[in-house]
Amino acid sequence: MPYRRPAETGRWAAEPPAPRDRGGADELLIGVDFGTTHSSIAACVDGKLRAVHDGGEARVPTVAYVPRAGALDIGRTALHRAVAEPQATALGIKRLLGRPLDGPGVAALRAGSIHRLVAGPDGSALVVLRGEPWSPVQLAAAVLRHLVERASAQLGDHVRGAVLTAPVTAPRSYHAALMRAAELAGLEVRRFVAEPVAAAIATSRGLRAGGLVMICDFGGGTFDAAVVEARDGIRASGCDGDDLLGGDDFDVALAEGVAGAVYRRHRVDLHRDVTAWGRLRLHCEQVKRQLSAAAEAHLLIRDAYAADGRHQDVDVWIDRPWAEGRWAALAARAAAVARRLLDRLGLEARDLDEVVLVGGTGRIPLVGRVLGEHLGRDVTVPADVDLGVVHGAAMVGTQLAARVAA
Ligand SMILES: Nc1ncnc2c1ncn2[C@@H]1O[C@H](COP(=O)(O)OP(=O)(O)OP(=O)(O)O)[C@@H](O)[C@H]1O
Ligand SMILES: [Mg+2]
Repeated sequence: MPYRRPAETGRWAAEPPAPRDRGGADELLIGVDFGTTHSSIAACVDGKLRAVHDGGEARVPTVAYVPRAGALDIGRTALHRAVAEPQATALGIKRLLGRPLDGPGVAALRAGSIHRLVAGPDGSALVVLRGEPWSPVQLAAAVLRHLVERASAQLGDHVRGAVLTAPVTAPRSYHAALMRAAELAGLEVRRFVAEPVAAAIATSRGLRAGGLVMICDFGGGTFDAAVVEARDGIRASGCDGDDLLGGDDFDVALAEGVAGAVYRRHRVDLHRDVTAWGRLRLHCEQVKRQLSAAAEAHLLIRDAYAADGRHQDVDVWIDRPWAEGRWAALAARAAAVARRLLDRLGLEARDLDEVVLVGGTGRIPLVGRVLGEHLGRDVTVPADVDLGVVHGAAMVGTQLAARVAA
């Protein structure tokens, strides 16, 4: 089956196809969600969606740790190393995939990045880990290989053909880089599906015929929106997004605020020290999550930096209003993307049956509030649809395989 570029439109059955009596002749096409923060693989096996697990978790942190010697460590154990050794731990690789170091948006990424970035021989952005440059493709391939090995073991089949997902506005170079990483991990890419369309396929199963839904997926690195219609399956009416807007930017916004206070007090610029800045960002990520459920959160980083001839802690309480002040512009940017999509499609928010907000960043109360205000209607934040994108990709994979076998 030839590889085809993104399926942002197209029609997909709203249910996983029933198992067919083909004596196992259909090829197993897995769905792959390579995310900024988490990655996952799923497949439809005997008509049931099955996510691949790693240590009991269906979503593997998109994190690679470079040890002093030996193979890369991937996933949760790598993430646990990050706070102590941010200079040896690759995070947020996705946003660098396929981007030249001097490309649009990279200057802003660079300013907030946990890593030092350098240009490769072809100008592409490389991540410096333990003093050595690493290509994002190499690191993405290692994360995917980790998942593919588990998929092959758990799905009882040698996994090869795959449907990949990509942010709506990702450049062509992103697709090419992710495809290269997937190939290095032993996969054959059969199709790309836009991430919010994949999420919509999996989450809009109960939609009434003719119903219209907007799905907004706000993840760690990207904001994506799709409007889908239930007409003979799920049909995508249109998509839009911002592939340089995600939860990472909310972490950076908090970290910038704290770094500013440290600078005013001690004239120490935390950006200049990769380890200090990395630790600050990772702690701010924790604080951000806590603030989704609590009015304030404690940011405590022991020996965060040196000043006045001794180690200094960062020890502050951060409250929601302060954080929301730093996040307001980011939330408004996402809401403006959703509004633009409706305008382009000639739709009013009241034409929609539902606006659904998924993705980890959608859990920030401010985000749902601002989106609702911009659209002038309620926004649904489902409790647990973290696997929507990968399930949708798996459903597309099964339908493609069935079409080819038919
Ligand atoms: N309770 C929470 N409150 C606020 N932010 C959260 C919460 N839980 C997770 N996040 C944030 O959500 C982001 C991860 O979301 P998600 O797992 O949907 O992203 P992803 O799919 O890996 O990324 P993307 O789709 O953008 O490539 C991270 O920035 C994380 O800090
Ligand atoms: Mg995602």
